Amino acid sequence: MDIEEDIRSLQLDSAEETNGSVTPEDVKPEEVDKSEHMDEDPKPEVQAEPIDVEPKAKEKEIPPTQDEDDEAEMMKKRHLNVVFIGHVDAGKSTTGGQILFLSGQVDERTIQKYEKEAKDKSRESWYMAYIMDTNEEERVKGKTVEVGRAHFETETTRFTILDAPGHKSYVPNMISGASQADIGVLVISARKGEFETGYERGGQTREHVQLAKTLGVAKLLVVVNKMDEPTVEWSKERYDEIESKMTPFLKQSGYNVKKDVIFLPISGLVGTNMKTRVDKKICPWWNGPCLFEALDAVEVPERDPKGPFRMPIIDKFKDMGTVVMGKVESGTVREGDSLLVMPNKAQVKVVAIYIDEDKVKRAGPGENLRIRLSGVEEDDISSGFVLSSVANSIPAVTEFVAQLAILELLDNAIFTAGYKAVLHIHSVVEECEIIELLHQIDPKTRKPMKKKVLFVKNGANVVCRIQVNSMICIEKFSDFPQLGRFTLRSEGKTVAVGKVTAL
Ligand code: GTP
Ligand code: MG
Repeated sequence: MDIEEDIRSLQLDSAEETNGSVTPEDVKPEEVDKSEHMDEDPKPEVQAEPIDVEPKAKEKEIPPTQDEDDEAEMMKKRHLNVVFIGHVDAGKSTTGGQILFLSGQVDERTIQKYEKEAKDKSRESWYMAYIMDTNEEERVKGKTVEVGRAHFETETTRFTILDAPGHKSYVPNMISGASQADIGVLVISARKGEFETGYERGGQTREHVQLAKTLGVAKLLVVVNKMDEPTVEWSKERYDEIESKMTPFLKQSGYNVKKDVIFLPISGLVGTNMKTRVDKKICPWWNGPCLFEALDAVEVPERDPKGPFRMPIIDKFKDMGTVVMGKVESGTVREGDSLLVMPNKAQVKVVAIYIDEDKVKRAGPGENLRIRLSGVEEDDISSGFVLSSVANSIPAVTEFVAQLAILELLDNAIFTAGYKAVLHIHSVVEECEIIELLHQIDPKTRKPMKKKVLFVKNGANVVCRIQVNSMICIEKFSDFPQLGRFTLRSEGKTVAVGKVTAL
């Protein structure tokens, strides 16, 4: 049985109305209403000031308060979170670094410094990646470990780049990056042998695509990178080969390739076809957009600014009070608001809101925020908690029902009641146990099968009851897709992807 076929049959894509494969059972009336309504809504507005490269999330600091009064000036551009994904060494950090360089945020002197540092570490070509890879371990090994964060702007959009690690040991970090993203840039190396390794079973090109889809990354820009490389030399044949191999796989993973995916060739290292289109002398056959144009043009369904407030907490720290970090998935937050920290129901007040470097009075869905709260101690908050409106607060549960696609069990184990794994859902990471298999889904009809099942194997699609030890805050997939899709992992491998169907 084809595993990918089953992932598709899970229909995790139903949140993206633009995707042609929505099934009636997945489209609830309220979702349709929301999307129509959202189309009319103005894009979230933002400040158009250049922003510096932000330190990684782990180096937390709140910048000094800036002028708060020109908030009316703010929010002119929309904001998008873009996660860079793909196999190890595909060139994600290099491309991310090049974007920052091309958008004028890193000066020549810094680049020269990085060139020297990279040379000293015998990693000459790695200097561009150093813009994103900021810690010593990453620079020495030439591998991203923690998700790097940076900001840049195009004509229409303010972007937050999330540079995920490609190495398979750091997939949990990649999941955390992708769960914050609206769109993905899938970086693929065109270099001889490298595309092949990434695309093999067990390669992270595949795993990342499947995870990204599950985690709600609605659109993908597939950048075929390293086109400058001596084994490639901007070969149309190589580019076409990669596109034609990737296309069916992307379809199987649930992406509508016509609507949700754009392919383009680049060289992240040289910076070709990135800010401006590639010169015809270098690549006579490319007539499509450059990366900045493509990013500018990506359309994603807006989240509901009027919905109940939901912000999963990714991190927290002490700084003149308690500060929480996260991305708003629904609703709007204003200074002075009373909110709940769920699941422990702590009543809090919003003291200050920061978008990137700027203090703002309010912020809408899609924004990455730091919020200073009063009424709660930092110790009483964990990542995975959710900042929620008081009315219509987020459900807190220890058990839920979900539909799962079993991807790959370790050593071909069987999946049955008692199976234990690690649940990743928005910013939650929790041990979980399968309590009961309710029914299997027929892969052909996609309807529940009548016969009671006691176990299933790789490739199966099954509805089951899942239990966690401590309370977690989640939503039904049909109500809030971003808070209702998840992955199950075991011993460092993704074993299943799923969606919450009942609480
Ligand atoms: P991980 O973070 O470990 O997953 O890797 P990554 O995808 O961030 O790759 P990184 O940017 O660290 O680049 C890996 C290697 O590929 C470095 O030696 C880069 O110089 C090289 N590289 C990246 N982009 C290009 C490119 O466009 N052309 C060429 N020739 N080499 C590139
Ligand atoms: Mg990297």
